[in-house]
Amino acid sequence: MGFLKYLLLPLAIAAHGLAQANEKRPNIIFIFTDDQDLHLGSMDHMPILQKELMAKGTEFTNHYATVALCCPSRASLLRGQAAHNTNITDVTSPGGNYQKFVVAKENEDYLPHWLVGAGYNAEYIGKFMNGYTRATYTNAPKGWTHTDLLVDPFTYQYNNVVMSENGQTPVHYTGFHQLDVIRVKALDRIDKLVDDGKPFYLTIAPSTPHIEDGHKLPTPQTRHKGAAEGLQVSRDGNWNPSDDDTAVKPSWLKEMASMNSSVIDRADAHYRARIAVLQGVDEIIEDVVDKLDKKGILDNTYIIYSSDNGYHLGNHRVAAGKSLPYREDTNMPLVVRGPNVTAGVKSKIPSAHLDFPPTFLEIAGVDPAKFPPILDGRSLLSKWHNPESKIETCPLEDTHEIINVEFWGGAGIESPLQDKPYNMGNNSYKTLRIVGQEHSYLYSKWCTNETELYDTVADPYELNNVAKGNNQEDHTKRLLTRLNALLLATKSCADQTCRNPWKLLQPEEERRGQIVDDAASLTITCLDQAMDSKYDTFFNTSFPDVAFQECRELQDIDNERPYLPENPGLGMKYREPTDNYHTPNVKNTDAVDGNQEDAGGADQRNITLATLMSKAVKLTPGQLGQAG
Ligand SMILES: *[C@@H]1O[C@H](CO)[C@@H](O)[C@H](O)[C@H]1NC(C)=O
Ligand SMILES: *[C@@H]1O[C@H](CO)[C@@H](O)[C@H](O)[C@H]1NC(C)=O
Ligand SMILES: *[C@@H]1O[C@H](CO)[C@@H](O)[C@H](O)[C@H]1NC(C)=O
Ligand SMILES: *[C@@H]1O[C@H](CO)[C@@H](O)[C@H](O)[C@H]1NC(C)=O
Ligand SMILES: *[C@@H]1O[C@H](CO)[C@@H](O)[C@H](O)[C@H]1NC(C)=O
Ligand SMILES: *[C@@H]1O[C@H](CO)[C@@H](O)[C@H](O)[C@H]1NC(C)=O
Ligand SMILES: *[C@@H]1O[C@H](CO)[C@@H](O)[C@H](O)[C@H]1NC(C)=O
Repeated sequence: MGFLKYLLLPLAIAAHGLAQANEKRPNIIFIFTDDQDLHLGSMDHMPILQKELMAKGTEFTNHYATVALCCPSRASLLRGQAAHNTNITDVTSPGGNYQKFVVAKENEDYLPHWLVGAGYNAEYIGKFMNGYTRATYTNAPKGWTHTDLLVDPFTYQYNNVVMSENGQTPVHYTGFHQLDVIRVKALDRIDKLVDDGKPFYLTIAPSTPHIEDGHKLPTPQTRHKGAAEGLQVSRDGNWNPSDDDTAVKPSWLKEMASMNSSVIDRADAHYRARIAVLQGVDEIIEDVVDKLDKKGILDNTYIIYSSDNGYHLGNHRVAAGKSLPYREDTNMPLVVRGPNVTAGVKSKIPSAHLDFPPTFLEIAGVDPAKFPPILDGRSLLSKWHNPESKIETCPLEDTHEIINVEFWGGAGIESPLQDKPYNMGNNSYKTLRIVGQEHSYLYSKWCTNETELYDTVADPYELNNVAKGNNQEDHTKRLLTRLNALLLATKSCADQTCRNPWKLLQPEEERRGQIVDDAASLTITCLDQAMDSKYDTFFNTSFPDVAFQECRELQDIDNERPYLPENPGLGMKYREPTDNYHTPNVKNTDAVDGNQEDAGGADQRNITLATLMSKAVKLTPGQLGQAG
């Protein structure tokens, strides 16, 4: 792939110069959970997260996932691209999975390659992407200097821990809980990374608090059982809402019945299980901070805490799950502690997962002019160093007021009690979040062609869909024409048009759908300007409606016409075609028996790597489906 060479060379040169100039580039540790919420209050019950990261760092309350689903969210984050550009849009074939990431050759051009090119060690422990399995483990993700990854289907079995180190034969850690295994391994890697001496990047990614296989609640370490006794999920404004509030929802959501007492009890039990299992993540934070401190590198390390996507438990009547465009599923935890990051403040600066790679590259000292051309996000480092600055929205050039969130396929209902099929189809949508200083909106167009618009300042729980019906206020009508144009631009944006979609929406005839490079020459640079009534005719006559031909489970170009520009790139020049790609599978495997009793007692709080390894057993050829 020609672009790879083009990419790594300048990075390597930049890094070489830097390594000599500055031996003390900061380390980066990214603690990345799975399905953790911001809005259900899980972080309130993590005392170490509060004490070590929030009180000593900044919490960013307007951080968003680009897709509210594990695998697409992770691919978007790791490539620094919107999901329409990675085309990893689901957790299984044909929309996505690890194999698709490999076949598309996205595996050859993403974050770890860039960090290693900049002179960093780059490591990953825990859950990588759905579809890293007994059939695909030998083909370990490229780019990292070390990986130790949970192997499917064991990824979601907290008491049956199977991991593959650098693509070697998967190992079963008998008698331990996943969170103890990952904690001990992470601490060991920090020792080794410090010994190695290069600046480093390390992802620590437990599958916590994801549900276990099927519909089982997550199992906490036994020492944390009962940690959440008596708690129940908060009955927020959009929790099990009224018939009227449900009727204005799009697609399958408007059909949801009110939750009865058994569905509610289950959601509360689920909430308690999530809080209890997250106590093991709090211990990871505690030990990582302590280890960095003992090694004398705590002050020169950025510790970032986030999750792939959020979660709902009863919001909008859906008992459990993710996949929706609403705040619970897309507005993510983000806490940053590190050099020059203000301690103990909350910041409203908007950002999204695809902003992490440019941010990490800037931390690594890579010249922004030499960033990989595939990046759709922007570095947040100056904001992390100045978290209390205002959200500047006009002109937009230096902010992220407009956040693009997408989804393809069905939504899983992760509660066995709600009388619905597990996978609700017709859940493809394109969403815009406008996150401004004065105004904020959620705007979505669904594959059923239904439209949603919430004024999230006046209506933070996203209940009053003002796009529904024909009697909108004049301001709403005018706003809808602007948001339709913006969504038309963001749904196939790339690079600078993701950072600033107004570039495609200039009123001068000759500029329409063209990229205007010179930001200073833009006529319309923000929503406030666009709302001027002198542009009413422009916005209500120049742009076709965003539409879908039908609800499909993958990103089909023709199904999603029209586009702006008419023939979209959709990231295709940075990946290989994946039509009819095949996901390998194993058959006739011997069982791998999980722990006889749940693990994670107080006696395992401080286990060493030697103890862990003394109980490590390689999977047999039979267990790997390789016998006979
Ligand atoms: C932190 O700020 C100081 C003072 O401005 C500067 O010298 C230093 O390079 C900064 N460190 C990082 C990692 O940004
Ligand atoms: C609640 O609804 C579920 C699904 O329809 C049903 O199985 C259950 O029996 C109901 N529980 C009560 C208490 O009505
Ligand atoms: C478009 O905007 C003009 C004002 O410039 C207004 O007169 C007209 O009714 C609008 N048309 C639609 C379809 O909204
Ligand atoms: C959505 O609208 C477009 C354009 O009007 C139309 O062609 C398409 O059939 C509609 N799709 C659905 C799912 O109704
Ligand atoms: C899904 O959307 C299609 C239109 O694309 C519609 O005909 C169908 O009834 C919808 N199904 C459900 C379950 O909502
Ligand atoms: C996305 O992936 C699917 C499945 O491989 C493929 O059919 C589709 O053409 C791809 N879309 C784009 C825009 O590349
Ligand atoms: C674990 O080790 C710490 C010291 O690092 C100690 O304070 C704590 O009591 C130990 N906990 C257990 C359960 O052994």
